[in-house]
Amino acid sequence: MRCIADTAAGPSASAPPEVPPPVTLRGFRPADVPFVANIVAEALQEHYDPSLYASLSHDWPEGFLVAADAQDVPVGFLLGVNQVEREARILMFAVDRSARTRGVGTQLMSSFLERCRSRGFRRVTLEVRVSNATAIRFYTRYQFSVVDLLRTYYSDGENGYQMAREPP
Ligand SMILES: CC(C)(COP(=O)(O)OP(=O)(O)OC[C@H]1O[C@@H](n2cnc3c(N)ncnc32)[C@H](O)[C@@H]1OP(=O)(O)O)[C@@H](O)C(=O)NCCC(=O)NCCS
Repeated sequence: MRCIADTAAGPSASAPPEVPPPVTLRGFRPADVPFVANIVAEALQEHYDPSLYASLSHDWPEGFLVAADAQDVPVGFLLGVNQVEREARILMFAVDRSARTRGVGTQLMSSFLERCRSRGFRRVTLEVRVSNATAIRFYTRYQFSVVDLLRTYYSDGENGYQMAREPP
């Protein structure tokens, strides 16, 4: 690991790479709804009733993780539910476009899987559009694999994959 002194520039060295601002992982709060809804609209092209977020997190609040910036503004979130005994299902997972590929999704997923393990879950499932290569690659890196093809799963007619990881 490099320490800050390692990057100290000599007269001819180029500027050090920009360090992405850190995010903090915390639980969902009602005040997050407008920010989360914006991320959902942009990243998932969905528009849900604002009351949906709190109601989905009601049974398992720890399954709804928010990544917030230094101003405590949400830049990403992962909403998991526990509808089947000892199973988690990731219902929504998105990071604001401006904060992607900086490890925010990785932090959210790692922390979520840790929570699943500590609750003794046996399995984690999710659905993803067959065209969403970025998300499928991300999930594969986390040892999720395709377990089913869901024909015309999405409202626009696109097929989905169900992916699962066991144990979480
Ligand atoms: C899928 C998604 C949540 C991932 O979030 P993210 O914050 O970009 O995730 P990460 O930054 O942790 O990882 C993304 C990639 O960037 C890479 N990465 C992470 N930190 C990095 C860094 N500092 N520099 C360069 N690359 C980095 C990761 O290795 C990863 O590579 P991969 O493409 O092989 O998986 C995000 O792309 C997204 O919101 N997509 C739109 C919504 C969506 O499709 N959601 C899933 C619906 S099922």
